[in-house]
Amino acid sequence: MANHILIEQKIKSFNKKIKVSSDKSISIRCILIASQAVGTSKISNLLESEDVLNTLKTVKRLGINFEKKKNIYHIYGYGLNGFYLNRKTTINAGNSGTLARLILGLLGRTKHRVTLIGDKSLSKRDFSRVIKPLQQFGINIKSRNNLLPLEIEGTDFLKPIKYDENIGSAQVKSCLILCALNTPGVTIIKSKKSRNHTELMLKHLKYPIKIQNGKFIDKILVRGQHQISAFKYDVPGDISSASFFIVLTLLTENSNIIIKNVNINPTRVGILKILNKMGGGIQLKNIKKYNGEKVADIHVKSRKNLIAINSNSKLNSSAIDEFLIIFLVAAKARGVSKFKDLGEMNKKESKRLDLAVKFLEMLGVKVKKINDDIKIYGNPKLKLSKNFEMKNFSKDHRIFFLSCITALTLGGRWKINDRDSINTSFPNFLKILKNIGAKFK
Ligand code: S3P
Repeated sequence: MANHILIEQKIKSFNKKIKVSSDKSISIRCILIASQAVGTSKISNLLESEDVLNTLKTVKRLGINFEKKKNIYHIYGYGLNGFYLNRKTTINAGNSGTLARLILGLLGRTKHRVTLIGDKSLSKRDFSRVIKPLQQFGINIKSRNNLLPLEIEGTDFLKPIKYDENIGSAQVKSCLILCALNTPGVTIIKSKKSRNHTELMLKHLKYPIKIQNGKFIDKILVRGQHQISAFKYDVPGDISSASFFIVLTLLTENSNIIIKNVNINPTRVGILKILNKMGGGIQLKNIKKYNGEKVADIHVKSRKNLIAINSNSKLNSSAIDEFLIIFLVAAKARGVSKFKDLGEMNKKESKRLDLAVKFLEMLGVKVKKINDDIKIYGNPKLKLSKNFEMKNFSKDHRIFFLSCITALTLGGRWKINDRDSINTSFPNFLKILKNIGAKFK
């Protein structure tokens, strides 16, 4: 099959109930924490995307076996620091920043040197954000310019640290929490708010972790060396994947969608807050507690009168992966939308903020970018009729999804390259689009 997709017509009105793929952040954390538990953990609805499969392959390289039995992943852990290596080992995180950052936290006591590599995109991302605090724990890490490949050597003398995490990065925070598991004493992390799945999962497993929630900063205290028993976990749907169908529905006339069983952790629902302020009218129904997390069904209807937003940067971390698709709504809304302090977007799988500006300009949308702030001049009548080709977007899965949703809602004739990028986070994206009536080749 050619590695591109052709979209030449908008999607027609639809009225559907769908399930999106399972949460990527939670899937990766389930595997990593199961790799440190004693006994067989059983994980259902694990996301089978490349980032997650690379997590399974990585723990396997580190001596942890797993099997898939009747759609349930069985992970056989040997407890904390239970990785088994008898020589220098190389692990490959592929495209996944989350896997790369989190696994480093678990390598603090390994006996042999581990080399961490990744794909082209990951090899351009900065690791100083985790190298610096891991060195404070006493871990020896070498890299050139804080980029991959990176060599890490564990120590038997990990010492607990106090650290201020001020980027608002869940990857950094989680890396340190995982390192603290193997460290004697209490590690204290003050962290600018970011997704808290690692903390919630450990708490759910009765691990001695204390979370003191502040308004902007959380203080997390982790007591090390407490064994985790094997567990069962059922992974809910991913709001980042749902976001593309939320916007597809908002921007398609006379349409409705219900997205079942999506994780609505408050640290992830920035997109719902932003879109509802823009007049999205998105509703959450059937809210339930779920393994220490919360899930709900998301109900969305098409909206004609979307309005611009002056987005509060306090919401940035809870919508960090969704701004691309939020920008599309801003382009169709009445008025000028403003978004501030989005520099972190340029540190993702691609330079997403810069690419978003280029993308919007390609559509004929007026955009002003000053440093890390952008203004989008919306136009409710925005329609496309030209030919568009999407290439050179570093195979960024979220840019692929954005391009498809743009083509299906605004029109034009689109060739979107790197179709296989969907496998990073949402392998059944195109299948679901087809089921709700999208036409493409
Ligand atoms: C993630 C955290 C976010 C996010 C990424 C997944 C995680 O990155 O962009 O897609 O699972 O911890 P940062 O923590 O670097 O902001």
